[in-house]
Amino acid sequence: MSAQPTSDRKKITTLTFRQRKEQGEPVTVLTAYDYATALAADRAGIDCLLVGDSLGMVVLGYENTLSVTMEDMLHHCKAVARGAKAPLLIGDMPFMSYQVSTQEAVRNAGRFLAEGGMDAVKLEGGREAASTAEAIVNVGIPALGHIGLTPQSVHKLGGYKAQGRTARAAHRLIDDALILEDAGCFAVVLEAIPDRVAELISRKLSIPTIGIGAGAGCDGQVLVSHDMLGLFDRFTPKFVKKYADMHGEMLRAFAEYKADVIARRFPAEAHVYPMPDDEWQALLAELEGEMELPLTR
Ligand code: KIV
Repeated sequence: MSAQPTSDRKKITTLTFRQRKEQGEPVTVLTAYDYATALAADRAGIDCLLVGDSLGMVVLGYENTLSVTMEDMLHHCKAVARGAKAPLLIGDMPFMSYQVSTQEAVRNAGRFLAEGGMDAVKLEGGREAASTAEAIVNVGIPALGHIGLTPQSVHKLGGYKAQGRTARAAHRLIDDALILEDAGCFAVVLEAIPDRVAELISRKLSIPTIGIGAGAGCDGQVLVSHDMLGLFDRFTPKFVKKYADMHGEMLRAFAEYKADVIARRFPAEAHVYPMPDDEWQALLAELEGEMELPLTR
């Protein structure tokens, strides 16, 4: 397959995010982990692609995101960067790539841009991640915050549960969001929190909020592409709207292929390379006596 121009849309930047918020126009974000998905999302006009560490679960089949490495992330970032040109591309910093020291965090954030072809990075955590986010922003790398249900803290949170459902917890989330804005984040992901809390945070911040399981009051929305495409049927969170049943479609196509091969319906005439009759006859003449004839045709 030849490489084609992906789109002639203008490049989306962090500035576009800010403008969208000012104009009240939602930002559209999807996760992507490979070239084909990135190409389709770009052509569909999606604003931003997040190479999420969710790839550990939906692509690599791990139980959670904790085993994902920098090398895993960079491998998938490079593929996405080859497929999508206009969307803002964000690389998700994996577990332990930014928690141990600020220096390591900045170096790893830099790798997403220098090696992975990303435009920005995302890191999980509120106040505890703020100084790291600030250091990353200070070297010129845009940082996206992520609060609420932060999957890298699944064991601390006691599972994949909605967050901020008490007044106290909600207040803490509001403060965390403001701290991340102060730290220089260009936007904040709000995951699995009550819609009224998300709307309140969105109103308080001057940077956009990107919701996932946080209701329509956010400034943008993100979904895991495998969830919304119905590709990943192991577990689908309540907040996902399924736009397709790709797993079902894959099952149907694979079973049909199997049946075709067994019944010798595939490959058919349209799928083979023809040989001119005179060349075929010449070959048969050369082989005469060497092998058992007739052949099938
Ligand atoms: O890893 C991921 O895909 C994410 C999104 C769910 C925001 O963090």
